[in-house]
Amino acid sequence: MNRRFPLAACLCTLLVPAAFSWALAADDPEPPGAPLGLPPIFWPDDNPYTPEKAELGKLLFFDNRLSSDRSVSCSSCHDPVKAFGDGAANSLGIGKQRGGRSAPTVINRAYSTLQFWDGRASTLEDQAKGPIANPVEMTVHKTADEAHRQVVSHLRGVPGYVERFKKVFGTGDFTIDHVVQAIATFERTVLSGNSPYDRYQAGDKKALTPAQARGMDVFFKKAACDSCHLGFNFTDGSYENIGIGMDRPKPDLGRYEVTHKESDRGAFKTPTLREIEHTGPYMHDGSLKTLEEVVEHYDKGGIKNPQLNQRIKPLHLTAQEKKDLVEFLKALSGEGWQQIMPPKEFPQ
Ligand code: HEC
Ligand code: HEC
Repeated sequence: MNRRFPLAACLCTLLVPAAFSWALAADDPEPPGAPLGLPPIFWPDDNPYTPEKAELGKLLFFDNRLSSDRSVSCSSCHDPVKAFGDGAANSLGIGKQRGGRSAPTVINRAYSTLQFWDGRASTLEDQAKGPIANPVEMTVHKTADEAHRQVVSHLRGVPGYVERFKKVFGTGDFTIDHVVQAIATFERTVLSGNSPYDRYQAGDKKALTPAQARGMDVFFKKAACDSCHLGFNFTDGSYENIGIGMDRPKPDLGRYEVTHKESDRGAFKTPTLREIEHTGPYMHDGSLKTLEEVVEHYDKGGIKNPQLNQRIKPLHLTAQEKKDLVEFLKALSGEGWQQIMPPKEFPQ
């Protein structure tokens, strides 16, 4: 089944700007609307929205008891204070271990069927099973089955959770599938829209500063960043090699690890640019610390390697154009996630 968001829907939101309300109210049976500039959230038929499920998912997302030694939660690496990333080049997991990749933000994941830098999971439900069973992230167990069984048995031992799972799924004998359905439902409410860029697109020509408006021109014309970062979420969902890490002796091969196609060597998912100001350091390995460094990377034509995408070539931007481009990227910071705070207490 093709779940990619139809481009038509994305164009519509640009043409018919409407002020949606996006605050998540626990007693509202309606799914939260999307902020300006984003299309409605897609809720899968096999995991429809309910406010109780989103609330349960939020508790699980922030709960250390999802890791086998109760030291790490999803929010350890996807921290709301850091725009649902962790502000580090590689994340600190269980036993203070570090993985090889940087934690992407969870914001606007609702709109993608490609999860992880290499797209190895297609749904948020499947994705969430990954970290719980990952020996560098959340478990000491060797197999996914063992890890998942242990988490479920921890949670089943907590009467407050049993009660909530009963309410949401109609059973206290819940499984890992119920756990990840709840987490995914919460994640689909973590959004960013209504940025200065969206307001500008909706007709408020004062929403961008003059520097940002000039930077927008550089982004869409001279630098053609939108040949990959396009549409309402600033990504076409493609995997591209822009050279990051390819000058290392043993580079991370990215998408190649999933497909084993030569052309995918060093290719990574084109990420969203929304909230980019808040989610550094940048790239799959966190190797670029600032947006200025990112712009320099593109301006010099990436890092040479046999699979480098042909569109990555020297841009010859002036110092002013580089500055303006960085300012434009900051105009992609919006709203829809800041109101999400860690729960004050957890089920006991
Ligand atoms: C120890 C740090 C750590 C923990 C704990 C962790 N993550 Fe992640 N997360 C990462 C890293 C690193 C990646 C990127 C890995 C990759 O692409 O191979 C990632 C990727 C993701 C993605 C995909 C984002 C994208 O743009 O493709 C989602 C969604 C996500 N994590 C949600 C979760 C959830 C839900 C949990 C808890 C069940 C969790 N994470 C726990 C570090 C962590
Ligand atoms: C050929 C496709 C392509 C083009 C053109 C392109 N990008 Fe990217 N961009 C990517 C990919 C793929 C990544 C992730 C690469 C990686 O981590 O190895 C990325 C990453 C980024 C990141 C870091 C995102 C994060 O979460 O870490 C920023 C910022 C960015 N691009 C901005 C730009 C700007 C500005 C331009 C224009 C000058 C541009 N991109 C042009 C494909 C592209």
